[in-house]
Amino acid sequence: MQIRFADKRPAGDYALVLPVAGKDRSNLSAVGAAQAKVSAALDRQRFEGDASSASEQFIDDGGSVRRLLVVGTGGASSPGEVAEKLGGTAAARLQTSGENKAVIDLTGLGYDADAAARVGLAAALRSWRYDRYRTKLKDNQKQTLEEIVIVGGNSGAAKRYELRWAPVVEGVALTRELVTEPANVIYPETFVERVRTAIKGSGLEVEVLDRAAMEKLGMGALLGVAQGSTREGRLLILKWNGGGKGGQPVAFVGKGVTFDTGGISIKPAAGMEAMKWDMGGAGAVVGAMKTLALRKAKANIVGICGLVENMPSGSAQRPGDVVTTMSGQTVEVINTDAEGRLVLADAITYVQRNFKPSAIIDLATLTGAILVSLGHEWAGLFSNNEDLAGKLQQAAEESGDKVWRMPLGEAFDRLIDSPIADMKNVGPREGGSITAAQFIQRFVENGVKWAHIDMAGKAWSDKASATYDKGATGFGVRLLDQYVAEVLER
Ligand code: BES
Ligand code: MN
Ligand code: ZN
Repeated sequence: MQIRFADKRPAGDYALVLPVAGKDRSNLSAVGAAQAKVSAALDRQRFEGDASSASEQFIDDGGSVRRLLVVGTGGASSPGEVAEKLGGTAAARLQTSGENKAVIDLTGLGYDADAAARVGLAAALRSWRYDRYRTKLKDNQKQTLEEIVIVGGNSGAAKRYELRWAPVVEGVALTRELVTEPANVIYPETFVERVRTAIKGSGLEVEVLDRAAMEKLGMGALLGVAQGSTREGRLLILKWNGGGKGGQPVAFVGKGVTFDTGGISIKPAAGMEAMKWDMGGAGAVVGAMKTLALRKAKANIVGICGLVENMPSGSAQRPGDVVTTMSGQTVEVINTDAEGRLVLADAITYVQRNFKPSAIIDLATLTGAILVSLGHEWAGLFSNNEDLAGKLQQAAEESGDKVWRMPLGEAFDRLIDSPIADMKNVGPREGGSITAAQFIQRFVENGVKWAHIDMAGKAWSDKASATYDKGATGFGVRLLDQYVAEVLER
């Protein structure tokens, strides 16, 4: 989707999008002589102007027929939310309408540069779709909208979009693509190749560890998960040094289980196909790294993805196996389906040994239990540091990638003690997301700030929103981008 900004409406064919805030319809004066009829039609449709509602009409515009989309913007709580609901609703409604071009007219509505730019951001995000495997799409199901022109916003909007939000659109698109692709296409090796292609020329440095390299480092936990698959595991490391020499980086660590069958502790058949998106944390990390590189963020960041496929086979690890992690700590693998924490353990040790990060933020589709706690509304946030947690909560609020703080503590930690090894990989059913977080915390070295985001309920959505359609959401990219902008670039 092409997003452009202009002072005035262009000549020629386009669908006109007009925002209307609740009962205040003064903005309809933009349609000139048609105003009274449009307003009467809105009454007949019982249109109330609520955010994300829309009414489609056709008006006589100087003798030709023009499509008019009135979009409600009433009742949203912040200018950013108003802007995103407007842009997203417009894009969703017009995407396959037959129109090639839409004009969203903000004239006289007082949008500042960021709000106007965020209309464009949401429109671009909401327009993303992946039709690669659909060879039989009917003509009227195909995307027709190619260009959205945002008119009459603040004159700084175009720059703001280009510098801040266009890179986010690119990063989110990469994440969604990786999450959407099936596991016969994206497995550890091809994940790496797809990322290499997608970040070419961005200035990101790439390093990849294969099985032999990880064996040398003693990554017994990650390799234990990988050993049941014919696809070898990988550790992918992306580096962005925009903050100058010597500054300690912040590390983003992603769970990249390209398919999670559960292993020998195999999952039930129903719904197992969802486990192609068990690499959503890794997807978010690479999407965020791409965004940060494209917008040349003034910060030092290292992004690490632990990539494995969790399969049952004659070579798979068994319940009861004891593995030695890169940290030297041993783990009794009670349940081979609690694999994400094993992968993260070695990835986190690796990043601490090699990069001395000042803070670690890991993202993972880690537990079904977080869905029981928080549904699909929030990801769970766990942290050993109040300041880091607070900043992430603020970034979540501003980006719309919502997180809810969850507790940690000694009593939970004790639940993963093992009679034969240093720890076991699962606790009891109760508090399952918390004991998973406690497990990861055992690999965080003294004094390192750490936050863990359990996004099992957020990587994929069965419902559309203002910024995504059903399917891969791209959760995490905006959160990390916002965190870097608000905290590390000041
Ligand atoms: N990838 C799953 C978690 C998950 C479940 C993500 C549902 C999205 C939707 C994870 O590897 C897993 O299997 N966790 C187990 C842990 C249990 C064995 C302690 C779970 O949540 O059931
Ligand atoms: Mn699992
Ligand atoms: Zn998993």
